[in-house]
Amino acid sequence: MQNKISRKDAIKSILAGVGVGIATPILLTKFYNLNYKKKENKTLQFKSIHRSIGNPRIKEPITAITIGAGARGNTYGNYALNFPNELKIIGVAEPIDIRKKRFCEKHNIDKSQSFKSWEEIFNKPKFADAVIICTPDHLHYGPCIKALEMGYDILLEKPIAQTEKECREILRLQKKNNNILAVCHVLRYAPYFINLKHLIDSGIMGEIISVQHIEPIEHIHMSHSYVRGNWHDSKKSTPIILAKSCHDLDILRWLIDKKCESISAFGNLKWFTSKNAPKGSTDRCNQGCKVEPNCPYSALKIYYRERRRTFVFDLPENESKHGDYILRQLSKTNYGRCVYKMDNNQPDHYVVSMEFEGGVTANFSMEALTSYDGRRTRIMGSLGDVVGDMNEFIYTNFLTGEKTKWSIENDPNTVKDFNGHGGGDLSLVTDWVLAVKTKNLKNLSSTIDASIESHLMGFAAEESRLNKQVVKII
Ligand SMILES: NC(=O)c1ccc[n+]([C@@H]2O[C@H](COP(=O)([O-])OP(=O)(O)OC[C@H]3O[C@@H](n4cnc5c(N)ncnc54)[C@H](O)[C@@H]3O)[C@@H](O)[C@H]2O)c1
Repeated sequence: MQNKISRKDAIKSILAGVGVGIATPILLTKFYNLNYKKKENKTLQFKSIHRSIGNPRIKEPITAITIGAGARGNTYGNYALNFPNELKIIGVAEPIDIRKKRFCEKHNIDKSQSFKSWEEIFNKPKFADAVIICTPDHLHYGPCIKALEMGYDILLEKPIAQTEKECREILRLQKKNNNILAVCHVLRYAPYFINLKHLIDSGIMGEIISVQHIEPIEHIHMSHSYVRGNWHDSKKSTPIILAKSCHDLDILRWLIDKKCESISAFGNLKWFTSKNAPKGSTDRCNQGCKVEPNCPYSALKIYYRERRRTFVFDLPENESKHGDYILRQLSKTNYGRCVYKMDNNQPDHYVVSMEFEGGVTANFSMEALTSYDGRRTRIMGSLGDVVGDMNEFIYTNFLTGEKTKWSIENDPNTVKDFNGHGGGDLSLVTDWVLAVKTKNLKNLSSTIDASIESHLMGFAAEESRLNKQVVKII
């Protein structure tokens, strides 16, 4: 079992300089397996990336109501099951009966505190410390405003809201009432990005000159969420630059630590359109489509044969019934439709160029058509550079040529099935619970103040893309 390094220790170890080599046998093996070539006379040093999870010092849990018991509502809810000393879910609002029933059973929620829709929660006097808002994008603003008014602390899924005006109104009210409000910009809590941020802040890299950042969505994920799924229509949800990439704009703003002043963007929907529908394809994959066996996006292949992403179907308990159940879902939901014949409008490739205060530049690419996911980052500093892929990053010192590699090590305490966003999901809730418990916003790095700028960048990028103009951010 490896020792965990707290955030404080991680900062210390970075500040201690890149001069101390800690090449553990495990990491060395990894190093040679990856076939990196060690330059002659150059030391390659290793550091591990860890993050403590949970707040063992908390003895009495905070109480919370989950609004929207879908995928994210369950992800955050699972924290309560794993750390019952910290968080107890005592209420829920969810219109889909089976989801509500399962969520109530999981958390032992009293019937009197289980509701069909978010408004009903706020018709009652305040009965919990906090709410966790995990409704679809167009239903963030309403519950958030009500929760702020009634003095609830809040864990708010991104995007904050659908318009700049609504985002600013949430910020105004939070300032007035001083609620603890964390935006689920989970990448800020991922050990990979925390360590990158510490490295930059330590000054070792000198001045940041520019950054290149890629978000490979992975083609099946794209087809599932942004072609067939809940976010296929930017008007009903939010433009993909916010719905998917507000995390990345936020990370760029956070790492560079300067205000973004100008933005210009391009992108469009090029592949998932009717023009590209193969000859012989049908409206649904299960209607005798001639190309189904050779189509990477076949719904039969993804959901039925490979059983991927089937959580959206609320599968019955009895596993022997899954097959027939999935086939029925493919006949009636968007998940069974041909990806070339959907009513989707989200771009499948999107590039954004940004200029920050002091002339720092950044380029961001969101790419749907990739076989891999995660993030790729290159940071160019005046004294050295970084190349990273969300599992590890390597810093090279320009003067000495020395390389230091930070690798994610699996935390033995990581809760199974709760390691989403490079560990960010778990760490976000850890910090949010502490912030609510101590009533101290300093325990959060994704406050509404900090998060709103990335949303303004997203709105500006979309305006630029649609009008083909450089947009200044005021
Ligand atoms: N932070 C992240 O990385 C991340 C990742 C995925 C999704 N999200 C965001 O989280 C939110 C939820 O996404 P999801 O994947 O869990 O979607 P989901 O569809 O699985 O869950 C949303 C739930 O809200 C419920 N709901 C709808 N209307 C409601 C109402 N009036 N009152 C209460 N509940 C209602 C739906 O029935 C559904 O169960 C979205 O805004 C999404 O953009 C964030």
